[in-house]
Amino acid sequence: MIRTEILGTGSYLPEGVLTNGDWAERVDTSDEWITTRTGIKERHFTTEDQTTSDMVVEASKKAIEDAGIMPDEIDLIIVGTISGDNAYPSTGNWVQKKLGIRPIPSFDIGAACSGFLYGLIMADALMKTGAAKKILLAGSESMTKIMNWEDRNTCVLFGDGAGAVILGQTEADRGVMSTYWAADGNLGDLLIQPAGGSAMPASRETVEKKLHAIHMNGNEVFKHAVKKMQEASLMAIELANLSSEDIDLFIPHQANIRIIDATIKRARIPLEKTLINIDKTGNMSSASIPVALDQARKEGRLKPGSHLLMASFGAGFTWAGIVVKF
Ligand code: UT7
Repeated sequence: MIRTEILGTGSYLPEGVLTNGDWAERVDTSDEWITTRTGIKERHFTTEDQTTSDMVVEASKKAIEDAGIMPDEIDLIIVGTISGDNAYPSTGNWVQKKLGIRPIPSFDIGAACSGFLYGLIMADALMKTGAAKKILLAGSESMTKIMNWEDRNTCVLFGDGAGAVILGQTEADRGVMSTYWAADGNLGDLLIQPAGGSAMPASRETVEKKLHAIHMNGNEVFKHAVKKMQEASLMAIELANLSSEDIDLFIPHQANIRIIDATIKRARIPLEKTLINIDKTGNMSSASIPVALDQARKEGRLKPGSHLLMASFGAGFTWAGIVVKF
């Protein structure tokens, strides 16, 4: 049986850092509010001329080196993003160009915070058909470029960054062990970038009303996030024929420390086995999980035989859970 394994990881966070104190000087907020309500202390932000694909390239170079492969061995590029360089071409196309890789298929996945896990599920399926043998999969976001810097309800939550993995095939007893994904468009309006698409083309009014920025009903999203993160985690564990005790490391999407706390309680995963980096990164949407994954590998938290659980929830709504054995 062919399985998909992670051969290498890499990540990139832009140099610029905004602390809670910096936000308190800009909008009506405080370090105390942000810390207790979200767990966030600081987040990184891109410079004006730095793009989502630039960050993928930085993360990918590290992942390629870590995997010990040549860039031209890659035969497919998938980028999870909702803040790509352009509406089109896809950010994946710019990545292919900037990495100087021959013409191979590349595309983006717009599943918001579930973009990386959706990409991994897609990659796993394509590996099994033989359509691709070495895949570059990234999650990258310039969230600070699509948010309203004057809206305290959203601006303090998000950060920029990118994570990338090189995926390969294996016949050994490791790799992706279970996948679970779902989406429900019925509640799509609760977290949305309203303007810029065919539903609301760009106009002077959409710009003036800041409708090209993230709009979120935080409280409602929170309730659904808690339920769906729990569902995704428990389903991924069950589909891998494992129990909670078998999970060596849990990487949840980093949207809010209170969502993470509720998820691990319900999934019966101890805090020590949970990777939390939201304090340093904020919510980086599709980049949160791959950046944390790279951190986990660098810190030696994933050893041969380790079972890694990852779970996400995001706009759409989309949610997903995956177990990978190392
Ligand atoms: O990435 C995946 C999808 N996203 C999520 O999963 C995010 C889910 N939502 C959340 O994490 C939380 O709902 C938030 C962190 C966004 C908000 O926390 P909350 O505990 O749900 O607060 P709230 O929205 O109920 O707001 C409580 C109060 C409000 O004031 P009033 O109306 O009670 O007077 C807000 O206006 O907090 C106020 N508030 C703030 N105060 C200080 C909202 N943002 C801020 C802020 N600083 N930055």
